[in-house]
Amino acid sequence: MSPIHQHKRDLRTAADLDRDAIDAILERSLRMKEGLRRGGHEPHLAGKSLAMIFEKPSLRTRCTFEIGMFQLGGHAVYLGAAEIGLGKRESIHDVGRNLERWFDLVTARTFAQATVDGLAEHCRIPVINALSDAEHPCQAMADVMTLREKVGDLKGFNLTYIGDGNNICHSLMIIGARLGMNVTVSSPEGYEPGAAAARLAAAEAARHGGSYRFERDPRAAVERAQAVYTDVWASMGQEHEAEARAKLFAPWQVSAALMAAAPAGAFVMHDLPAHRGEEITDEVLDSPASIVFDQAENRLHAQKGIMVYLWEARR
Ligand code: CP
Ligand code: NVA
Repeated sequence: MSPIHQHKRDLRTAADLDRDAIDAILERSLRMKEGLRRGGHEPHLAGKSLAMIFEKPSLRTRCTFEIGMFQLGGHAVYLGAAEIGLGKRESIHDVGRNLERWFDLVTARTFAQATVDGLAEHCRIPVINALSDAEHPCQAMADVMTLREKVGDLKGFNLTYIGDGNNICHSLMIIGARLGMNVTVSSPEGYEPGAAAARLAAAEAARHGGSYRFERDPRAAVERAQAVYTDVWASMGQEHEAEARAKLFAPWQVSAALMAAAPAGAFVMHDLPAHRGEEITDEVLDSPASIVFDQAENRLHAQKGIMVYLWEARR
């Protein structure tokens, strides 16, 4: 049977997940995680294959997609930058039209968001963003799943993101807003989240009973935070800016001093990999408040939920 569909859903950006989709994925992910704990694999993708395109390195994303596909009864094929030369050795269009003939799902970690968008456009099977320069929606789903496990309903939950207004920040703002959270972001001048993501987060938060706010001062930003989230100051592809950014971002370091300005009991979150001693200190990352490895664990479960959801949504 051909895997090509007349209608399919992609996860190109967090905006592709409306509130119903977020709820459905979270519910499914939590259920499958519990099932796995009791020893059961659920073969919802038996006999299906996932293509995993990676233009950048990965620990968590690669492992969790591959293990997730195995646990769902399917199979994953890793395609590194050296293998396929997406857009160089072969056009995105032609790569997409090949993959759809053999695979059932594609996930892609890219530099340009346009590469994920192009694959989604040309490949008639679901395409999942595994991190682009603009977004990391799989991470954001694992993050809200982790918070859901810790505190239950997230409506009105105060989440503060400190640091670079990057891919992690964008996806988190949008998903958080759609869950009715109060999302606050604090970044140095010139490194604020993109205007489109901020507009969408503000509109979605208002619609779902939460809020979105930008606050320059990191101490003021964490004042009412129930979770403080940070990420690297220089993302993959920005390594040449690392030194300059380190100076500029220093006041935004998530340190014991900054956490002292947050309410007692606030969680500490990070998508990892962390640059210890830069955006976050060892003391904070390794503190009892840190839930970073729970976030990492939930990448597996959230992505299983995403893959099953997109597979079942095709026609
Ligand atoms: N958080 C995350 O996506 O990790 P990797 O870059 O190791 O996949
Ligand atoms: N912002 C980081 C996230 C890594 C998971 C990066 O893009 O490198």
